[in-house]
Amino acid sequence: MSPRTDDLRNRVRDRYAAAATAAINGTSATCCGVSADGEAQEMGISGGFGAELYTGEDRDSLPADALAASLGCGNPLAVAELNDGETVLDLGSGGGIDVLLSARRVGPTGTVYGVDITDEMLTLARANAVKAGASNVEFIKGTMEAVPLADESIDVVISNCVINLSTDKAAVLAEAHRLLRPGGRFGVSDVVADDHLDAAQRAERGSYVGCVAGALSIGEYRDGLTAAGFTDISITLTHHVADGMHSAIVRARKPGSDACCGVTACCTPTEQAVDRTTTIGASEIAGGCGCVS
Ligand SMILES: C[S@@+](CC[C@H](N)C(=O)[O-])C[C@H]1O[C@@H](n2cnc3c(N)ncnc32)[C@H](O)[C@@H]1O
Repeated sequence: MSPRTDDLRNRVRDRYAAAATAAINGTSATCCGVSADGEAQEMGISGGFGAELYTGEDRDSLPADALAASLGCGNPLAVAELNDGETVLDLGSGGGIDVLLSARRVGPTGTVYGVDITDEMLTLARANAVKAGASNVEFIKGTMEAVPLADESIDVVISNCVINLSTDKAAVLAEAHRLLRPGGRFGVSDVVADDHLDAAQRAERGSYVGCVAGALSIGEYRDGLTAAGFTDISITLTHHVADGMHSAIVRARKPGSDACCGVTACCTPTEQAVDRTTTIGASEIAGGCGCVS
């Protein structure tokens, strides 16, 4: 890692360590996009971060401390369509909000991992998991560029406003592809830039640690996902963040090992398997498709 990359990563870690410590101490954590010194107002960032992006039902199901520590720019679970028994990984899990919501969706037979680089965030997330009574979750120290989990061990990769913070986005997308099972889904919220904005123009609109300057453009995201081996890529803008910068839902799929669609892993992101217990082999014998919208 170059000294500049190292420095940037340390600044990101310091920023989110301070946010976690604020949440642990009961003071409000500054959001992604908003610095403690009012940077957001200076740069014209228009909000759209944190717990306000979740439904009332989701908010009601969480401990107050998990909500207070929400620093994302979207709600990746709104599109991830998680099913009973699935294994989910949240990149940059922060205070754990998306891990805890996912844990309810996958049920006791599923597992949700959160990986985060910041010790203070891991402490906060583990405390929130205890308060939520979640036993099917695990928070792991690590980086999203090199996640300490096995190949093809994950059904769904989620993330909320974190990939823009990476100093090596190609490594993050390659890592997500490595970790997903064939047919696995990638569904993240992130800040994206209009294609015409160059790096300097993105930096004029917000800081790196505030989730703005490091954002990929829409075209760069699509190209990066394609290069990593993903298909069925869609990038849907959800709300304005700053001039030419948006929060977006980014979805993609790791190609399946064959064309069968009798198990959820083989269905498109908008479909579910008719019977999740059907194996790929059984589905083939039965004549194929078992997906419904
Ligand atoms: C903007 S916060 C989002 C937290 C959480 N996803 C949420 O929605 O509240 C960014 C999180 O990513 C973590 N992070 C930053 N860079 C990372 C990296 N390279 N690998 C893993 N985690 C990282 C930070 O520690 C922080 O918890």
